[in-house]
Amino acid sequence: DLGPYRHYMQKEIFAQPVALADTLAAALKHGFSPALFGSDAHDIFSKTTAIRIVACGSSYHAGLVARYWIEEYTGLPVSVDIASEYRYRSGKEQDGTLIVAISQSGETADLLAALRSAKERGQVHILALCNVAHSTLTREADLVALTHAGIEIGVASTKAFTTQLAALFTLAGSLAHCRQTLDPAALAELANCLPRLPAMFTDIFPLETALEEWAHELSHYNHALFLGRHTLFPIALEGALKLKEIAYIHAEGYAAGELKHGPLALVDEEMPVIVCAANDALFDKLLSNLREVQARGGKIFLIAEPGCEAAFDYCHRTITLPSKTGPLAPIVFTLPLQFLAYHTACRKGTDVDKPRNLAKSVTVE
Ligand code: M6R
Repeated sequence: DLGPYRHYMQKEIFAQPVALADTLAAALKHGFSPALFGSDAHDIFSKTTAIRIVACGSSYHAGLVARYWIEEYTGLPVSVDIASEYRYRSGKEQDGTLIVAISQSGETADLLAALRSAKERGQVHILALCNVAHSTLTREADLVALTHAGIEIGVASTKAFTTQLAALFTLAGSLAHCRQTLDPAALAELANCLPRLPAMFTDIFPLETALEEWAHELSHYNHALFLGRHTLFPIALEGALKLKEIAYIHAEGYAAGELKHGPLALVDEEMPVIVCAANDALFDKLLSNLREVQARGGKIFLIAEPGCEAAFDYCHRTITLPSKTGPLAPIVFTLPLQFLAYHTACRKGTDVDKPRNLAKSVTVE
């Protein structure tokens, strides 16, 4: 039942405050703790020597974000692999590696093959992060963390992706708690961000109308670039994937610092550049990237945290988020990019919930 919504994707975008609250419920009640990941987690987390994340599509992007959090909060080395590549690579796993397999469905063929391959490469443990409690993935894992996004019908991942991020933030915090890599005050500060997350989404909903106007403009282009830095780099990848997937516009996500290494050659008046800007230590670096784009006539659509006003002079359009996002920036910035892709697709009249050539769950190689 769609209720007041035009598509399941739109309904699922608006379901995120509840999906996030449901996914975070245990962490909000008990705080960061290995116990959230099962009774063996304390033992496994204490002995973990490295982390390898494997996933496909949006779930892979969630893994890329998690790398920043886990490395920063635990000091553990983290690598992130596309499952369809990992399964055909050779190479041993260091004993004590924790394989984090991320999948909404838990049935993605390449992912299952990757985790089976990982088990043959060394003494590893598997942690499954999944939205389906009884799936092939959860059955084959040592530890299970469930997202509580509910059923997602739209092929484009929305609430499944943001709840994966919320669960991965909890994983980073719980690893840090178990391994005592952060002092208690720093850990408490991270945990204190979580209760506000659902409301941060609700507060952004009124920006939908402005993003719909951006979408009208965007629908006239054949290409788009998405830029971000740090944890917003994978969100640029995710924003580009959404636009490709449902609006059929060729889009690429880039780490803003990579512009000079090639994509800047593409920038002219015909190239919309969607930028996510956090008011963080890298903002000045991003600012010089924006100058480079503007100098070539690129049209910058900026989504920014409060405090990024210095960038506005370089931009064609700007939207400021209602509040600071802190370490949860990648989760929060996902929402405006979802609106943008959704309304661009509506404008173009595509089959939003069932885009051509795609299936919800990719159970064949
Ligand atoms: O069920 P999974 O999370 O394993 O699926 C992985 C990808 O197929 C999926 O995220 C896909 O990229 C989405 N359609 C993206 O919106």
